[in-house]
Amino acid sequence: MPSSQAAWLTAKGAPLTIGPTTVSDPTPNQILIKSRAVAINPVDWAMQAMGQDLFPWLKFPCTLGNDVAGEVISVGSNVTRVKVGDRVLGFAERAAFQEHAILAGNLFSPISNNMSFEEASVIPLCLSTSACALFQKDHLALPHPSVKPKPLGKTLLVWSGASSVGCNAIQLGVAAGCDVITTCSPKNYELVKKLGASQTFDYSSDTVVSDILAYLEDKTIAGAVGVSNLNAWRAGHGVIADNMLLEIVSKAKGNKFVATAQPYKGQVPEGVECKFILGSALATNEVGAVIYADYLPKALAEGKFIAAPEPLVVGKGLESIQKAFEVQMKGVSAKKVVVSL
Ligand SMILES: NC(=O)c1ccc[n+]([C@@H]2O[C@H](COP(=O)([O-])OP(=O)(O)OC[C@H]3O[C@@H](n4cnc5c(N)ncnc54)[C@H](OP(=O)(O)O)[C@@H]3O)[C@@H](O)[C@H]2O)c1
Repeated sequence: MPSSQAAWLTAKGAPLTIGPTTVSDPTPNQILIKSRAVAINPVDWAMQAMGQDLFPWLKFPCTLGNDVAGEVISVGSNVTRVKVGDRVLGFAERAAFQEHAILAGNLFSPISNNMSFEEASVIPLCLSTSACALFQKDHLALPHPSVKPKPLGKTLLVWSGASSVGCNAIQLGVAAGCDVITTCSPKNYELVKKLGASQTFDYSSDTVVSDILAYLEDKTIAGAVGVSNLNAWRAGHGVIADNMLLEIVSKAKGNKFVATAQPYKGQVPEGVECKFILGSALATNEVGAVIYADYLPKALAEGKFIAAPEPLVVGKGLESIQKAFEVQMKGVSAKKVVVSL
């Protein structure tokens, strides 16, 4: 096996340090890749900044990162979907920030030569999170996504459609056959419409709740996905956003279910269910293979699913990841912070 380096977090608040790690052979249901690009999610810098205060199970030293794209260098004996040399993207839970990554058989998708590794790396965690929200039986339980969806006759509301989770939730909602409506800043209306949203609303408008309720007047909702920026959530705006979303869902007809990307700490209206999404849960249920084996390879090949938001490449090499955390933490709009390897 090749020698390899990883970006290590040795203690809460410590800067990432680059050091050796062991590369193991893939088990029969795994593949091993040479990583070529990784993307940063808010949870990465949150784990560094808050350590066991927010994530009590965290043990140091540890690796971080979930989003990776690269080249297959070894394939487990049960894996038939790819061969050595193929290009893939994958979800490597808290193990992406390394020169090599092991990917489970149900958590990777081949990508074409036309898609850069940097573009591909923006997809995994936020696709997984959206898929858990939309397709798990104990969340919105929508029909599985398809490149030729049958119209469901229901509207899905995605709050914060230009966020990374939002961009994926819009596309998966469309692939499930929903009419998808979303909130974002007006400068991002064009992007979310390109992803398939039929209607856009400005989440900072004083009339956003009544505007959305007016649109939903004669519609049935499939449920809602609640997302906000992590800093905004820490500052309390996430609760405000979720309060607005919960008010809309409580007054609309249909599935009064809100799947939230951040834990909700307010009062849930009677008759509404509000449930936190654990973006890694699809690793251990049927949704993982539904997304990464059945839907995504076909949807990417046919141009029915695109990598969004677009990558903002801030450096090359594992040593650039710390700087990339700082860029993500300052806040991005419709961008995914990426490091090439
Ligand atoms: N539960 C899980 O498994 C899971 C997985 C992934 C992410 N998350 C969480 O989901 C949240 C979003 O993550 P992300 O990577 O999608 O974020 P992101 O891409 O960094 O979010 C940036 C977006 O947030 C929007 N935003 C800023 N302030 C807002 C507000 N007050 N209300 C609503 N939206 C606001 C902005 O929209 P405009 O530019 O249009 O203004 C911006 O595009 C984070 O808290 C993250 O920790 C959870």
